[in-house]
Amino acid sequence: MTVLVTGGTGYIGSHTVLALLDAGYEVLVADNFVNSKPEVLHRMAELAGREIPFVRADLCNNKDCDALFSEYSFDAVIHFAGLKAVGESVAKPLEYYSNNLISTLNLLKNMQTHGVRDFVFSSSATVYGDPASVPITEDFPLSVTNPYGRTKLMIEEMLRDLYKAHPEFNIALLRYFNPIGAHKSGRIGEDPFGIPNNLLPYVAQVAVGKLREVSVFGNDYNTPDGTGVRDYIHVLDLAEGHVAALKKLETGCGLVTYNLGTGKGYSVLEVIRAFSKACGKEIPYRITDRRPGDIAQCYADASKAQKELGWQAKYGLDEMCADSWRWQSLNPNGYDE
Ligand code: NAD
Ligand code: UD1
Repeated sequence: MTVLVTGGTGYIGSHTVLALLDAGYEVLVADNFVNSKPEVLHRMAELAGREIPFVRADLCNNKDCDALFSEYSFDAVIHFAGLKAVGESVAKPLEYYSNNLISTLNLLKNMQTHGVRDFVFSSSATVYGDPASVPITEDFPLSVTNPYGRTKLMIEEMLRDLYKAHPEFNIALLRYFNPIGAHKSGRIGEDPFGIPNNLLPYVAQVAVGKLREVSVFGNDYNTPDGTGVRDYIHVLDLAEGHVAALKKLETGCGLVTYNLGTGKGYSVLEVIRAFSKACGKEIPYRITDRRPGDIAQCYADASKAQKELGWQAKYGLDEMCADSWRWQSLNPNGYDE
């Protein structure tokens, strides 16, 4: 069975491609490198012990997208491709709406024409907005506060409508919590362009000496130590979650929705301490104002995925930090040698 992996040279995609190959799937990776680098393909090939079938394609470009479906054959699509920076989405909403929505529409139209029925979508815990309580189950009300989140929610709605009209589709909406960590080899990992927005890559760059100190965005939240609490999940666990979701789709399950998280929340200060332990250095930090739009806490009830997919996250925070640190320390400049 062959899987088209869009955005397969990105952070989560690259780890998932390796998990798919390990599980015996064939893959075809499509990416336009808008947020990734060609070097990752060499590293993936080295880890897989084989070439990674790859097509450079912008999925928003009809010609590129049509060519994928007419020139190659595959049985399922995992759709990671998309723009993902919240702040940038506020500044450039049209770019986010066009890239995320048009790429998905192009893919779905081609799937319909070519009789490809199994689709896995990278959604996000951001679709729960500011949840009334934690842990969050899949039936919590949905709301969003920024254009990035809105593209995720709009695509979820599009997929629910598509499924109503065409129940022959099998669709998994996977709502990721906060992916961190890296491949055990230290050869692939998260390589953000510019100054990182997310906590883990920021902490890792402070640890390696590229940034001076971590700004802790507020310590007056209603949480045990006052700093924000999140459900950090190892990218390797997340990758396995996609393999499990694909297997579920193969049973003809229709449209399914799962939280992919660990079910445990950690505060910013706990993360900084765990990372300090992993790298054996103090991580300098300073408490600053809250970041606008941030919520106090967000963590999953991940029991539905456990029950229905037989999938459960197995790595804890210490191992996530150790693996992030291995990647960052071996590759201080990411994929740029
Ligand atoms: P990433 O930016 O590392 O990977 C996305 C990939 O998609 C990149 O390689 C980029 O070049 C590619 N891409 C973007 N637009 C494209 C287009 N039009 N045509 C072809 N390729 C295109 O991001 P990631 O962290 O691996 O996230 C993967 C998916 O998961 C995204 O959809 C993201 O929104 C979603 N997600 C990520 C997180 C997270 O914290 N990383 C959390 C929740 C959901
Ligand atoms: C981010 C995204 C969200 C996405 C989620 C999962 C933003 C605003 N939101 O949310 O859409 O679904 O990732 O990938 O980017 N923090 C600091 N200092 C920093 C960076 C972060 O204290 O330099 C804190 C934040 O306030 C938060 C926690 O660390 O409490 C995690 O932040 P981050 O990694 O950006 O993830 P989210 O805020 O969960």
